[in-house]
Amino acid sequence: MTRTAIVTGAARGIGAGIARRLTADGFAVALLDLDGEVAEGVAAELRESGAQAIGLSADVSDPDSVEAAVAEVAAQLGPVTVLVNNAGIIRDNLLHKMSVEDWDSVMGVHMRGAFLLAKATQGFMVEAKWGRIVNISSASALGNRGQANYSGAKAGLQGFTKALAKELGRFNITVNAIGPGFIETDMTRATAERMGQDFEELKKVVVGAIPVGRAGQPEDIAAAVAFFVREDASFTSGQVLYVAGGPLN
Ligand code: NAI
Repeated sequence: MTRTAIVTGAARGIGAGIARRLTADGFAVALLDLDGEVAEGVAAELRESGAQAIGLSADVSDPDSVEAAVAEVAAQLGPVTVLVNNAGIIRDNLLHKMSVEDWDSVMGVHMRGAFLLAKATQGFMVEAKWGRIVNISSASALGNRGQANYSGAKAGLQGFTKALAKELGRFNITVNAIGPGFIETDMTRATAERMGQDFEELKKVVVGAIPVGRAGQPEDIAAAVAFFVREDASFTSGQVLYVAGGPLN
């Protein structure tokens, strides 16, 4: 039986890596992104290798957009019983310079987005008496200078994860979170640029502090997602797994 998954923010980076892995593992996958065309491009590439995948445009922070996208996915691929809340943005600044807009937009994509998607898909999971929700948090949940909004949202996602795990467990729905460390994507490249640093230089410094001695790749996060959504991971719920090449202090 083919299960249907939604991965948000799947046009690139970690989300695209997760979509690739889930299709390889036999899931039908809907790639949702603000950038629907690019998401559909990734989906088309996956279809070429025999996967069931579609790319759709959606803004996870907008209730109407989420409702419409989830309905479209269900119509095309069947009931959505796997949800990976991965879409994310950063709007870093020191507290005294952080605008209300930058606070709200970060909360909007991460917290409101995860809430809206979970709310829109949980009916399918309850009906199926089976479901998997994976929220992409971050090592930044432990606190990062210049990221009051992002750290707050990512820590918030962990509380959200645990609350849903308690609410939905009785329906055989597990809810877990992953906290990636430094992963090479457009997001970390943009961070380097904003800091006025060469990406390769920044990477060298960061990698120096990573026990396994390398930067993370989207596939590293996809591997953790693959575990949480497995059939036999049904007793693992409400957990936060940091995937950072070593323990975090
Ligand atoms: P990325 O910037 O490469 O990709 C993020 C994707 O999310 C983009 O395709 C973007 O269009 C999409 N997106 C943004 N706002 C959206 C919205 N409102 N609705 C739908 N899609 C939206 O980022 P990356 O690095 O792949 O990050 C993925 C997730 O992993 C994010 O939640 C990020 O916070 C988290 N993360 C990333 C880390 C890293 O080192 N790259 C470390 C820890 C967490």
